[in-house]
Amino acid sequence: MRTVTIGILGSGTVGQDVLKLIQRRENIFTDLGVRIEVAGVLVRDVNKPRDVPPGTRVTDCADFLQECGVVIECMGGIERPLELLRPYLRSGRAVITANKALLAERWDDLREHALDGRLYYEASVMAGTPVIGPMSTVLRASTFTRLQAVLNGTCNYVLGQMEEGRPYADALAQAQALGYAEDPPTLDVGGFDTAHKLTVLARFSADGNFSYSAVQVQGIEDVTLADIEDARAQGERIKLVAQLEKQGGTWKATVAPRRLPATHALCTSGASRNAMIYEGEECGSLIFAGGGAGGMVTASAMVGDLLDYLLGFPGHVPLH
Ligand code: NDP
Ligand code: HSE
Repeated sequence: MRTVTIGILGSGTVGQDVLKLIQRRENIFTDLGVRIEVAGVLVRDVNKPRDVPPGTRVTDCADFLQECGVVIECMGGIERPLELLRPYLRSGRAVITANKALLAERWDDLREHALDGRLYYEASVMAGTPVIGPMSTVLRASTFTRLQAVLNGTCNYVLGQMEEGRPYADALAQAQALGYAEDPPTLDVGGFDTAHKLTVLARFSADGNFSYSAVQVQGIEDVTLADIEDARAQGERIKLVAQLEKQGGTWKATVAPRRLPATHALCTSGASRNAMIYEGEECGSLIFAGGGAGGMVTASAMVGDLLDYLLGFPGHVPLH
């Protein structure tokens, strides 16, 4: 049995469930001949009550990073995680992250490590519903033409609640209470989180260096109950839709609320559900749908990435 020492950055909605899932699925690590040892869990406030296994070292000091063979980042933000991860990645070690804001906005710092296969980030888009895995492997054989997707659980939840007549502010507060929303939630409702995710996807399908600033973004803040009622009267629903397609020879990426027929594949029901229609010349039209936000569904992708790492599979390599 070999021991693999890991560090976890963040112990909130996602981080706590990552630890729980590692413990719950101990048998699959044992089957691989691996014993997982958690060197430390980084937080801001060590006095906050947390649901972590007894004996876990919860600390506001990242000194345990040196001991770790792999780090799981679920703290969010951009500058602080980058400051911690940059030297770690440069030392040749692997990072698993759910942080699409970091990936989208600081690609210049991360791309070489992703190309080297040291960056694993299935959880960053559609949480536990695997899309980055297929897009970074088998789907490359097909000529990509277009994708359309609902990528934000918070917006999906808020718009769904508004369909039930609940006011926007109440619905958003509930999405925050359920652990779906970003900090701050303007990242969700302003469309920026969806744009971060679309940027990540574009790097597997359109251009390995696709820039976040190239995405045109409009959020759901101006959608009213009257708009939703009006759509319903026409047999339609309003969804925050991410779209990537070629126009006039260049890739056009947009995020905006759109009215879709209620029977459209992107109109999935379920609180935080996400969906994506991926179109390629040879593979045809593919539909991916499933949980897109929440602690355990996100943890399932992160622990899946950990298993890939332990099995010797590379991380998610963008187009190059
Ligand atoms: P939370 O806010 O619930 O948890 C963040 C954790 O990180 C907390 O434990 C917090 O410490 C810690 N933390 C934040 N900043 C610092 C810092 N500067 N120094 C030390 N510790 C810090 O966030 P989530 O778990 O919801 O999200 C984490 C990441 O996962 C984000 O990148 C998010 O975008 C991504 N993600 C989230 C999903 C979800 O459904 N929630 C789904 C997919 C991805 P403390 O507890 O002391 O405040
Ligand atoms: N805030 C994000 C959402 C979390 O609501 O989809 C999952 O990435």
